[in-house]
Formats: sequence, C-alpha cells, structure tokens
Amino acid sequence: MARMRIQPALRLRGRVRVPGDKSISHRAAIIAALAAPGGRSRLTNYATSADCAATLDCLAALGVWIEREGSNVEIEGLGTAWTHAPRAPLDCGNSGTTMRLLAGLLAGQSFNSTLTGDASLRSRPMKRIIEPLNLMGARISSDDGGRAPLRIEGRRPLVGISYALPVASAQVKSCLLLAGLNAEGTSEIIEACGATRDHTERLLSLFGVDLRTEWKNYEGRSVPSVSVQTPARLQSHDCDIAGDISSAAFFLAAAALLSGSDLTLEQVGLNPTRTQILDTLQRLGAAVAVGNEREESNEIFGELRVRGSGGLVPGETGANVLRGALVAGLIDELPILCVVGTQIEGGLEIRDAAELRVKETDRISAMVKNLRAMGAEVEEYADGLRVARRMPLSGARLEAYGDHRIAMACAVAALIAEGESELEGAESVSVSFPEFFTMLESVTER
Ligand code: S3P
Repeated sequence: MARMRIQPALRLRGRVRVPGDKSISHRAAIIAALAAPGGRSRLTNYATSADCAATLDCLAALGVWIEREGSNVEIEGLGTAWTHAPRAPLDCGNSGTTMRLLAGLLAGQSFNSTLTGDASLRSRPMKRIIEPLNLMGARISSDDGGRAPLRIEGRRPLVGISYALPVASAQVKSCLLLAGLNAEGTSEIIEACGATRDHTERLLSLFGVDLRTEWKNYEGRSVPSVSVQTPARLQSHDCDIAGDISSAAFFLAAAALLSGSDLTLEQVGLNPTRTQILDTLQRLGAAVAVGNEREESNEIFGELRVRGSGGLVPGETGANVLRGALVAGLIDELPILCVVGTQIEGGLEIRDAAELRVKETDRISAMVKNLRAMGAEVEEYADGLRVARRMPLSGARLEAYGDHRIAMACAVAALIAEGESELEGAESVSVSFPEFFTMLESVTER
C-alpha cells in the first residue's frame, strides 16, 4: 500500500485532458467484439484505467482479436454467437462493469464460463443480474447469496423478457441489453427506478442495432424503457472516446474550491445522462462554463472552464440537498461532492444513495471517516450523509479503502486543507485514472 504525502495547494491553473471515459470504453470494446465477423473497429482515446484493461483481457481470453497501442485499440468482431470457451475463469479485477456486462454477453452463448474478480468485486451484489438472466433462460450460480465467482451455463438462444429494474443501474440495464442481442424476440428493460447513463444504447445504435426507446407508464409513473429485437446484426465502426466527466469532476471540484483557480478541461464527454455534476456544481455556486460542444461517435464532447472562488454559496434554496432522481445521475461524483459539501455555506445533505454502500468500498462510511478525521462535522445515515456546515479542513491521515474514487476525493480534500495530509492506498487511482496525481500536479500552484 502506497502512502502519499499531500501538501495544500494555492490554486489550479492551466489546461488538461482527462483520459477516455471508463463506461464508454468498456462498452465500445465489448460492442466492437460483437460486430459482424471480420469487421474491425478502431477505438481512439480508450481509457487507460486498469478496469478497462480487464475488459480487453477478458475479451482476448474469449478469442477476440485485439491490438492495443496505448489509448488506441483495434478490435475484430466475432458476431454475436461466440465459440471459444475460455480455458480458465475470466478475471474482471476490480471492475463491476466488466463483470456485469460480460455476464449478459456470456449468458447467451452455447458454452459455460466463470467470471471472477478481486476481493472487493467478489463482495459486491450480483443477484441483480443473476435473477433476470436466469429468467431469460441462462443458469447462473454464485457463492454466498449472489456474489462472484459467477458460473454461467449459457443458453442459445435466450428468451426475450420485459423486465423492470429493481435498482437504478446502468450496468444491469446494459447486461440485459447485451443478453437481448442473443435472445429470441424482444427484450425490454424498464428503468423503473429512474434513468441511468445511456452509453450502451448510443453505441449499439452507432453499430447499427435498431433500439426502441420510449417513456412508459409504470405503476402510475412515467419512466424510460428500452427494447432490443433480434436478429441483431452489428457493423464495425470506429469510435473516438470522450474524456471521462467522472474523472474531470475531481479537477472541477478542486479548482472551484481554491480561489484564484482557472482551469480548462478539454474534450470532456457531455452526455446529458452524465452532466448532472455540472448542474449541481453550478447550483451550489461554482463558476463552471461549458464551451465548444460538438457531436462525435454518437456522444457529445465539449470544454469545461472552472474558476475558483474558495467557499461556495448556493444560488437557490434546496440546492444543498441531493436526493431522489438526482442521485443516479451523480452516483460516481458523490464522494467528491462530500468534499465540496465541507466548503458550501449551509453544508450538504445526500440521501437516497444507499447504492454507495455497495460500490468498490462502502463509500458513505469511507467519506464519513475521512472527513471527520479532517475536522468536518458529518452525520451518517443508512442512505447518505450530511455535512453540517462550511468549515476549514485540517490535514490528516486519510484512507482510500482500496477505492479509486475515495482516493481522489481525499486527495482533493488534502489540497484544500490546512497542513499536510497522508493518504493510504493512493495507488488505487489506477483503477480509473492512473495519471491522476501527475496531471493534478501539472496544474497545481503552491
Ligand atoms: C457504470 C454504472 C454505475 C457506476 C459505475 C459505472 C457503468 O454503476 O457507478 O462506475 O459503466 O455502467 P451501477 O450501474 O452499479 O449504478
């Protein structure tokens, strides 16, 4: 475990380009591998993260031809029916997206396979994919009430179902859409708990799949639903991957909180299902501006400029409470928003976020402990937390708990604190953003 000393910063200035989006990279690789046999897709700005490398390794173990040179990846399609049974369990590392999406793909194959991962991933809930995939006709068994390793007895074809998601999860939705490519008839996924990121839908459309999206009345509420029909034939397609807005969020927060900062983030993905963080920061009083928007590879790219003012004063009452439908769109940004909360007049309350407890670590507990160590007054709830008020943070010993987003949130907290901090487990940033510390250092003035 690497312990890193972090000194406070004066401000952040300059321009940076964060690495390619993790969610889009996983999906682009998997969908390119499903393209018609022989078709090659070139993916540029593929995420440098360990998670996305795990997806490529698993695909290679399933017989997919892949050539990688840094962030350029070329992949040859195998069609939707695969024949190469993996010789060993597929190791998804720390990556929930790899495991849940590949489970959907493997459920519809005519061979058996096993998905496993590190201790964190093996402790995360998988019933949310096992149950609907079993309803579609696969047989998936697991350890300990729905934890990986997942042993998948594939069935070809699967049976299309209409399924209302019991949790707001883009991973589960994507798992079922991929399974739907190998199912007979129509597979419909109803986002009964609210809309989540739609990168899978956008990429499947880019690769030629005819998806139907609509709003549906579900138990008296209007909710989004998406259906895929077979036979589905995917055509290879090149794809440029936008910068990861969830990685950019750490820079946005640090610059917003350090007065005198002026930072520009280039080529960031601005898919509307991911930009809730921008609206939220703006409503909390941060000066974030969006420019140079353009469409590329069925996604939106743009530039973000943030100027720092020190503490934040919300522009409207109620902005200090994040709950309900807002939360799914902020799910990966909540750890850094906890840090921002310590610098907002009136503090910040986050509710309806129990999903944070089943991420790479229990992110509610991790942020409560770290912020308390820095002197913040924080109350913990089963489904969130409340930072009582704005207060200066003091340098402290901080702990990443093996979680990349906790490590980066703590690093930003250390930059805005008084006095030195020590961060245990700083190396975990490589899961989503290996360049995080060097990129941060390149724009930090002390
Ligand atoms: C992701 C979806 C979210 C998110 C994760 C990436 C994805 O997870 O937290 O970092 O790529 O689909 P859930 O689907 O579990 O909410």
